[in-house]
Amino acid sequence: MTVTTQTVREIALENPASIRVFESFGIDYCCGGRKPLAEACEARNISVDSVIAALEKGAADPAPATEDWSAQSLGSLAAHIVNTHHAYVRRELPRLAELAAKVVNRHGDTKPELPEIQKKVAQISEELTEHLAKEEVVLFPYVTRLERAKEEGTARPHGCFATVASPIAMMTQEHEAAGALLADIRELSGHYTPPVGACPTFHAFYIGLREFEQDLHQHIHLENNILFPRALVLEGASV
Ligand SMILES: [Fe+2]
Ligand SMILES: [Fe+2]
Repeated sequence: MTVTTQTVREIALENPASIRVFESFGIDYCCGGRKPLAEACEARNISVDSVIAALEKGAADPAPATEDWSAQSLGSLAAHIVNTHHAYVRRELPRLAELAAKVVNRHGDTKPELPEIQKKVAQISEELTEHLAKEEVVLFPYVTRLERAKEEGTARPHGCFATVASPIAMMTQEHEAAGALLADIRELSGHYTPPVGACPTFHAFYIGLREFEQDLHQHIHLENNILFPRALVLEGASV
């Protein structure tokens, strides 16, 4: 299999440094990452050769290594997600809501996209707050207990569901919904491009939204592509 026929998700898993390259080209490697690289490039009107060149350059660069979570315990991956990505989401959402209120107040009359973006930020905030709580209270502790039971050779722990596939399906659906809201925001904001002469708050708002989307992609990649599939395999192998 060549790199063009490998799916974007497979490349991201094999080579975590590729994530930076995909981010820079706007190629989705998490919820929409099941497409072959060539197809993903075609959909975004990008030359596959330039992406491959950037991937090769990334592999040759002694840039800081992105952590390879595929070989670490699920408990430590879940803790990393909570401490890094969930903490970031909780820190950023109120700041983005505040910036949204300021730009809508100052420029909402002439920029009708701003109140639309503000509404979508509020919706993401509401949905993600509930989503993080479900992962932290139900799913992640269960996966950690499942892993411990396997290590100790004891019976599969009881959960409030018949199989871990149920909460995973629900979380995956919620990831798609959050990803779609952020894609709408990206479109409404002209790919986070503030108008010429925009005030620093406007710039800060769009920079914050862009970074939020990038962090969410990395966050969802760790869950959809590493944590969830490994939890399903673990459950299948449990007694
Ligand atoms: Fe999460
Ligand atoms: Fe999640």
